[in-house]
Order: sequence, then structure tokens, then C-alpha cells
Amino acid sequence: MGLCFVRSSLIGAKASGIMSESPEPGRLVYTPKELLSDGEYAEPLYAGGVLCHGGFESDGAYRPPRTLHRTPAIAAWQGQIGAGGGELVTISDEQVPPQYPSVDQAKLLLKAGVREPIVRALTVISILEGFGAIIRDVRVPDLKELLLEPFDGTALAHLDKGLFEAHARDEAGYRDQGGHKQMWEAARDLALENPTVPSDVFMRLMGDRGRARGGGDPLFPQLDKKLYRMLMMMSQVLVIEVFARGTFEWGIDVLSDPEVSAEPEKAGTMVRYIQADESPHVEYLRTGLSEIRTRTLRTVDGKTIAGREVVDGILHHILHRMRESRPREQRDDTRNALIAAVDAGEAKKSLLEDFDAMAPEWDRPERTGFEPQAA
Ligand SMILES: [Fe+2]
Ligand SMILES: [Fe+2]
Repeated sequence: MGLCFVRSSLIGAKASGIMSESPEPGRLVYTPKELLSDGEYAEPLYAGGVLCHGGFESDGAYRPPRTLHRTPAIAAWQGQIGAGGGELVTISDEQVPPQYPSVDQAKLLLKAGVREPIVRALTVISILEGFGAIIRDVRVPDLKELLLEPFDGTALAHLDKGLFEAHARDEAGYRDQGGHKQMWEAARDLALENPTVPSDVFMRLMGDRGRARGGGDPLFPQLDKKLYRMLMMMSQVLVIEVFARGTFEWGIDVLSDPEVSAEPEKAGTMVRYIQADESPHVEYLRTGLSEIRTRTLRTVDGKTIAGREVVDGILHHILHRMRESRPREQRDDTRNALIAAVDAGEAKKSLLEDFDAMAPEWDRPERTGFEPQAA
């Protein structure tokens, strides 16, 4: 229960699925060009005829994009936190809500020939991946002014020097290369044979999620606005990335089932490639937040506040809200599409009943693990 911490620098590298290829392990300072660099691939990745990022080694193994230096860099920054007695922020698995529709619910509909709700769910995933590009618009404040302690050779010092940009490119693609948006579309189109994509998905997402995001009073009004916005965005994206773990397992399970997928091998493998690309996102975000957590922040009223109080407060707030809103949004998206199919005479009412009977149960933990410390 509660907040778990991981101390070993090795875990970051292991979680990324690739060990350091850096000629200088432990190096802490990188140029933006290095953090964006792929290195050489023996073969590029194509998804549904679209050139995508990432590629294959000569032995056929897939290597995620922009990880030649990014992966060893993150491992080195994480190692530094542990060596300094700090802890890496971890959102525990029990905080991750189950995917809705569940694997069984998705297969039930596909086997019954009712594809729209699943096409819709897959399209929502691809659009949300594309939204990831907004991370490159996050403004990084003058941290030298705002942090009491030094931060040379940290993830924080590299956020606007390659890390945010690499993340944006991974999600939304870059120039002639597709990213996760295009890779999810390819997986969907392979498995479900180029289905008709509902035209309202994008607009509905903009409306629903836009309203839900809202503004509200800042949690820490004494913080520099730019710094507050950056920490909110990093925390939100971290929670989304952690929640996505369930989405990948779901996508692999559904799309590689030959009973419901036209291209089980190719579609499932495509989702596995996307999954492999995500580790650096979770890892650099939790590293940056952990670095803030071990430092002291100057406030606009000339005082200071512990980074720990700020990071935990923000993570608690976001996690508390999103672990409730996300299952509800996913449920409404899919269920409403199924109800529409029933109303249009395209699905039997009993299918909706069977579908509802299979709804995933979730025992939401009482605590987020980021509750304020008792004074
Ligand atoms: Fe992604
Ligand atoms: Fe991601």
C-alpha cells in the first residue's frame, strides 16, 4: 500500500527494456541533439505503409526511437538521486484503473460483429497519443532563480534541452515519420480491416476532456506560475503514462487474438513496439519530479517551500481525480456507442446486458500514496 520508492539506478535502465549503449555510462550532461538521436538502425519500421520512428537492429530486435543517449542519461540521473539519499517517485500499480471495455467485453462485441465501440476506443487512444505533442509547448521557468539547490546534470536541466521534444516526437510523429498516433491507427486498421472511423470522436474528446480539465484555484498559489504549470503538466502526463500500462496489455490481448483480429501477429506486435517506446516517458518524468522533490523552492512572497510538499500535493490531487474520471470516461464512451448500436437495430439488447454483466470491477484503494505527511 501507499507510496513505494525505487532506489536503484538499474531499475530505470531495466524498465526501459534496453541497457545502456552509451560509451560513457554515468554521464550526466547531454546536448539536445544527443537526447534526440536514434543512432543507426539496420531497418526502419513501417506501420500500415507509413514510415514510423524506431527501427530494428541487425538481429531483428526492435529499438525505440531517440534512446541512444536518452536511456543511459535517465539511468544516470536516477542513480544520482539514489546516491544522494533521495527516492524515486512511484505510482503503484494498484492505482491504475482497469481498462474499460475489458478484454472480454471487447472480444464479446467483436465476435458479435459490433465493431463501432471498439473502433471508437482504439481511435480515442490514437488521438490521445497525438495530444502528447503539447508537452513541447510547456514553458520551463528559470529554475536557477526558483531552486535553492544546484541542479546541473539532472533531468530538470534537460527538460527544454531535448527531453520534452523527444517525448512530443515519440507521441505525435515528426516530419515524415509517424509516431504513436499513427502506430495505433495502423494496429486498429490491421486488426479490424480498415474500419470506418466515427467522425465525431475527435470533437467529442475535445468537448468532454476540455470541460473536465477546467481551471480552478491553484493548489500552490505562492509558487511561480510558470513553475506551477510545468509541474502540473508533468504530473498529469506521468499519471496518464502510468495508466496507459493497462491499455497496452489490453491492446495486445485483443488485437492478437485470431478470433477477433484479421492480423493478430502484426497488430499485436505493433502495440508491443509502442509499449516499448513508453518507458523513457515514465522514467524521465518521475526523475524530474523526484529531483524537485529533493529540493527547496522559492515562492513569490520571498519565502520557501519544500519540493516534497509541492510534488506530493500535486500528485495526490491529480491521481485522486483521474483514477475516478478516467474509468467513467472510458465507460461512457464505449457504452454510449453500444447503446446507439442497439437503438439503430445493429445490436441486440441482450448484447448490452451481457456486456454490462462483464463490466470490470475495481476496488479503488483508499489512499493515493501521496497524502500530505503528518506534521
Ligand atoms: Fe505514446
Ligand atoms: Fe508516452
